[in-house]
Amino acid sequence: MTDSQGDGVGGATAMDLYEKLTAQGDKVRSLKTAKADKAEVDAAIQLLLKLKVDYKGVSGQDYKAGCPPSESAVVSNNGQLGNGAEEDTVDPWNVATNSAKGVDYDKLIVRFGSSKVDQELVDRIEKVSGQKPHHFLRRGIFFSHRDMHQVLDAYEKQKAFYLYTGRGPSSQAMHVGHLIPFIFTKWLQDVFDIPLVIQLTDDEKYLWKDLTLEDCQRFAVENAKDIIACGFDVNKTFIFSDLDYMGSSPEFYRNVVKIQKHVTFNQVKGIFGFTDSDCIGKISFPAIQAAPSFSNSFPQIFKGRKDVQCLIPCAIDQDPYFRMTRDVAPRIGYPKPALLHSTFFPALQGAQTKMSASDANSSIFLTDTPKQIKNKVNKHAFSGGKDTVEEHRQHGGNPDIDVSFMYLTFFMEDDEKLEKIRQDYSSGALLTGELKKMLIETLQPIITAHQEKRKNVTDEMVKQFMTPRSLDFNF
Ligand code: TYM
Repeated sequence: MTDSQGDGVGGATAMDLYEKLTAQGDKVRSLKTAKADKAEVDAAIQLLLKLKVDYKGVSGQDYKAGCPPSESAVVSNNGQLGNGAEEDTVDPWNVATNSAKGVDYDKLIVRFGSSKVDQELVDRIEKVSGQKPHHFLRRGIFFSHRDMHQVLDAYEKQKAFYLYTGRGPSSQAMHVGHLIPFIFTKWLQDVFDIPLVIQLTDDEKYLWKDLTLEDCQRFAVENAKDIIACGFDVNKTFIFSDLDYMGSSPEFYRNVVKIQKHVTFNQVKGIFGFTDSDCIGKISFPAIQAAPSFSNSFPQIFKGRKDVQCLIPCAIDQDPYFRMTRDVAPRIGYPKPALLHSTFFPALQGAQTKMSASDANSSIFLTDTPKQIKNKVNKHAFSGGKDTVEEHRQHGGNPDIDVSFMYLTFFMEDDEKLEKIRQDYSSGALLTGELKKMLIETLQPIITAHQEKRKNVTDEMVKQFMTPRSLDFNF
C-alpha cells in the first residue's frame, strides 16, 4: 500500500530498485567480511553496479544509502519521463494526449509514483465513514491517491485530519470542471466532519497571467462565491486569498520561508519546467501553494499544532506542487500531506485535453444560460457516434470517446441509468442526438441550481468565510 516510485526497469519501481540496492550493498559487505571466494564477491559487485545504473535510469538520482528516492525526482522533465515523446503531458498548465479516450491514467499513476484508488480503498472509505462512497469514487473519477490508508488508519484511532484544496482565480467565471474537486471536498467534509481550508491563489494568477493585482483579488472574491455556493459549512471552512492572508499571518509566512529554504532552483526547474527567463515570483510560488499543507500555518484553527494530517483533494494536474511538498515535509519536521487525485473533466471538443477557462468554446461555464448549454453541447460536444443513423444503428457508438457520455459519468448519479445509456449507445439503440439531449437535461438544472445558490451568497457571507477565526472543531 505504499506509493510506488516511478516507472521501472522490467516493471521495477525506483523504490523496488532502492531496496534491492540496499540489500545487495549489505550482501557485498558481508561477503567481503567473510572473505568469500573472489569470483562470488566480483559477481555480487557486478550486480550492485548494474542495479545502480538501473536505479539512476528510473529515478534520475544517484543511489545513496539511507536516502530513498524522492517523490519529485521520479517525474522530472516537467511531467515527462523517459521516452517523453509518447507520454501524455500533465502539469498545472498543460494537459494533452493523442488518445481520444483521454489521458492514460494508469500510466500516470506509475509515472507520478502515486497509488491507485482500488476497490479495497473504496470499501475501506465506506467502512470508516459509514457512508455509501460518492459516485466520483465508485466510478474511478478520483482514481489516484497518496497515503489515504494512513489517513484512515489514524481516523479509526480518533485522530482527525483536515482538508485543503484551492483555486487560482484567473477569471470571473469558473467552469464545470472546476466544480469537480469542490463537490468531492464537500462530500468529504460532510462524511468525515472535519475542517477545510481553501486557498485562492490570486498571487499565482498575477504572476502567470496578464492581470493586475486588483483584478486577481476581485476574481478571488467572485470565485469564493461560487465555492461557497457548493454548500460548505461556514463553521468548518476557512477560505483565504494569498494576497490578504500572507500579510496577516506570520505563521503562514514562516512556513513559506522554511519551504523556500529547503527546495533548490534546480529542483523546481525539474518539477515545474521553469526557465532562466521566468520571473522570480514564479520560482518561489510553489512554496506558497505548499504551506497550507501544514496545520501550523493556521494557528487560529489548529491552536499551533503542527501534526494534524492534511488531505488534499484536487485534479492530478496539481500533483507536482504536492510531490514537492511531500519531499520537503519530513525535512522541516511536518507530516506529509495525503492526496486524492481526480481525472480531468474533458474539453467539449474531446478528451485530448481538459476543460479550460482560457478556451471559451471548450468549456461550459457556471454562468452559462440553459440555452448556451444546449447550443454548446449540440454544436461542440465531440461524438463517438457513427456518421449516419443507419451506420450508428448497425454498429453502435463508442462511449469511451464520446464527450457527452463522459460528462454524464461525472453528473448522472444513478449508476443503473448510466449503465443502460452505455449499453444502448454501444448497441446503436441510442443515437448521438438523444444522448446529447440527456446530457443537456442533466446539466441545465445543475447549473441553474448553482446559479440560484450563488445569488444568495452575500458579501457578508464571503467576509465570514474569509475571516481568520477558530472553526467548530476541538484539536
Ligand atoms: P485551478 O484554478 O486551475 O483549478 C482549481 C481546481 O480544479 C481542478 N481542475 C479540474 N478538475 C477536473 N477537470 C478539469 N478540467 C479541471 N481543471 C481544473 C484543479 O486540479 C484544482 O483542484 N494552483 C491551483 C490553486 C490551488 C490548489 C491548491 C488546487 C492552490 N492550492 C490545493 C488544489 C489544491 C489552481 O490554479 O487551480
